[in-house]
Amino acid sequence: MYELRCIECRERYAPEEIIFTCKKCNGLLEVWMNLSEIEVKREELEKRMFGVWRYREFLPVGKKTKIITLQEGGTPLYKAENLSKELGVELYIKNEGANPTGSFKDRGMTLGVTKAIELKAKAVGCASTGNTSASLAAYAAKAGIKCFVLLPAGKIALGKLAQAILHGAVVIGIRGNFDVALKLIREASQKFNIYLLNSINPWRLEGQKTEAYEIIDQLVFEAPDRVVVPVGNCGNISAIWKGFKEFYEYGFINELPIMTGIQAEKASPVVKAFKEGKDKISPIEKPETIATAIRIGKPVNAPKALRAIRESRGYAESCTDEEIIEAQKLLARKEGIGVEPASATSIAGVIKLIDEGIIDKGERVVCITTGHALKDPEIVFSRYEKPIEIEPDIEALSSIITK
Ligand SMILES: Cc1ncc(COP(=O)(O)O)c(C=O)c1O
Ligand SMILES: [Zn+2]
Repeated sequence: MYELRCIECRERYAPEEIIFTCKKCNGLLEVWMNLSEIEVKREELEKRMFGVWRYREFLPVGKKTKIITLQEGGTPLYKAENLSKELGVELYIKNEGANPTGSFKDRGMTLGVTKAIELKAKAVGCASTGNTSASLAAYAAKAGIKCFVLLPAGKIALGKLAQAILHGAVVIGIRGNFDVALKLIREASQKFNIYLLNSINPWRLEGQKTEAYEIIDQLVFEAPDRVVVPVGNCGNISAIWKGFKEFYEYGFINELPIMTGIQAEKASPVVKAFKEGKDKISPIEKPETIATAIRIGKPVNAPKALRAIRESRGYAESCTDEEIIEAQKLLARKEGIGVEPASATSIAGVIKLIDEGIIDKGERVVCITTGHALKDPEIVFSRYEKPIEIEPDIEALSSIITK
């Protein structure tokens, strides 16, 4: 059994209702699952394919519902041995770039589009900094349903834009930032009966909570000390925390990790609210960062993220664009893992928090790298070394090799 509950006033709503905020107090909604009804053993889970739907009993969809899936999840958890040595912590990378469309959003969309079909929606839509639109476009294609995506014009990484077009979404550039685009699609979704699949949609986050389930699974049913997450609209960190809490409550783990959210310096309203001890963020009107995926000034799920961080006795920090690029380079060149800039904030954050004495030596830390490097090739061309071009003769080549 499952239902929707307001995180503020605990008002309850039936799962069939298409609703994203509480009618009484306008609070955010979350899915409440009756865990006491679930009966599944670890050994049973381990027999199934590794991925989102391994945890079927913990996911709120009807028993007879047709699942829209591209075999998402089941991403690697790398032990970053070189960086662990360098930084003095036990560092793991949960590489969400290995999902079907190259980001963690696929976990949310398998659930969200399945839900859309269950609710008999005729069209789906979202505002996006890029990855959400790429993912939704692919899952809508699989489901055979119309898809509208609103993007901040000129601020979308090339790979992501290409994906949305490739999968046949109606791609609409908005002359404004993500926050403006989200406001617009929320209005349009009500007016035109488009099922909204931004992370304000609590069902989508149910798919994303499997990041936590998989980490537990991969660490042989032990929780790490800390999980570090890049934060934009605040859905993912909230979803991951929910996943850990559920496995804790169910009895799969005996301890909970500390949640740590990292934002880009000029788009960091959550970090500011956290450090000032506030429950509400002050919106940033003109967020700016090269990490375009998290270029967000008014994160709608901020109350959930602040709770996740505080409940877990966690922390929030911001990094500059330079620190983000340095971290991206370090991960690419010391571990062979290519991630987009937003994802590298988790590594940049770890480096900073070790310096600040927030992360202790020897901690077992999992960084979530949220999206693949190829999402944003332009950043590499603008910020890294240029490739060398020579005449095709051995003299010219040897002068480079022996330099
Ligand atoms: C690569 C990447 N990292 C991080 C985020 C932030 O996730 P959230 O908006 O759930 O905080 C996004 C969101 O678009 C993203 O695409
Ligand atoms: Zn309420």
